[in-house]
Amino acid sequence: MKILKKIQEASSLEELEGIRIKLFGKKGALAGEFAKLKDIPGPEKKAFAEGLNKKKAMLQNAVDEKYEFLKSQEIEAMLKKEAIDVSLYSSLGKKGALHPVMETMDKIIDYFVAMNFAVKDGPMVEDDFHNFEALNLPKSHPARDMQDTFYFNDGGLLRTHTSPVQIRTMLKTKPPIRIISPGSVFRRDYDLTHTPMFHQVEGLVVDESGTVSFANLKSILTDFLHYMFGDVEVRFRPSFFPFTEPSAEVDISCIFCAGDGCRVCSHTGWLEVLGCGIVDPNVFKAVGYDDVSGYAFGLGVERFAMLMHKVPDLRSLFEGDIRLLEQFR
Ligand code: PHE
Repeated sequence: MKILKKIQEASSLEELEGIRIKLFGKKGALAGEFAKLKDIPGPEKKAFAEGLNKKKAMLQNAVDEKYEFLKSQEIEAMLKKEAIDVSLYSSLGKKGALHPVMETMDKIIDYFVAMNFAVKDGPMVEDDFHNFEALNLPKSHPARDMQDTFYFNDGGLLRTHTSPVQIRTMLKTKPPIRIISPGSVFRRDYDLTHTPMFHQVEGLVVDESGTVSFANLKSILTDFLHYMFGDVEVRFRPSFFPFTEPSAEVDISCIFCAGDGCRVCSHTGWLEVLGCGIVDPNVFKAVGYDDVSGYAFGLGVERFAMLMHKVPDLRSLFEGDIRLLEQFR
């Protein structure tokens, strides 16, 4: 049968589809044959119809078989074409590494997560209320100055610290609270130890009145600094932040001269690494908290990274110079 040969010799799915339509389509050859039925006299009708049906089934079978064959051939060809030789050597096969700032951030986060702190983040574009007002930073505070803060025309601003996350968390949840919030912050600063964007990790613990003390704060931060810097001395020095009272700055004995005095520690033997304190009652008032006590702390991640890796110029961390970054692998 000529048509059977044609089916068997079809070399592509398109060609096969063309044949199928010519055979089985509404105006196809088989339809034409079946149309003849009505002109065939009664006695022969049955035999003719049976023959036709057999032929139809046989052709359908042939088309199906050929279809399966061509389809699997097509899949095979595609697999061959798209195959990737994973064993092939590439001269581009360089491994990436974490940026030293992110690596330091991860190490800090790991410590506090192990101490049962939850990690929270907040928006980088903030408003005056969350970044200043609720944190007891009075309208006249110099930090609000255009010198320090990036403002938008609509009064919004780039957060100057991660402390607004404290406010957002307290407004959303009831105590007890035990969080850290790592993230980028922004200030109009640019020199050896300042870049306009840098990273902080904020910490906040709040619980019933009388249950969170300066002693708690002191003990966890001392332990944390030993975890980060090893066997250093830690000292708490009275200081001031509008959102904490009392406040302290925390120093470690200089890791470069072991406290003897050198250029890095300005010959004091100490390096300042943290700010902290007992949450000021005005902050609790701003978020509608009553009868609670809490502590907070904040640190600059770049400062930690610089000290841990002995990086002399903070700006170099953000220049993306591969020669510098490769030293941190
Ligand atoms: N927000 C302060 C800063 O950016 C750091 C800080 C946080 C100090 C929490 C005390 C308590 O300098």
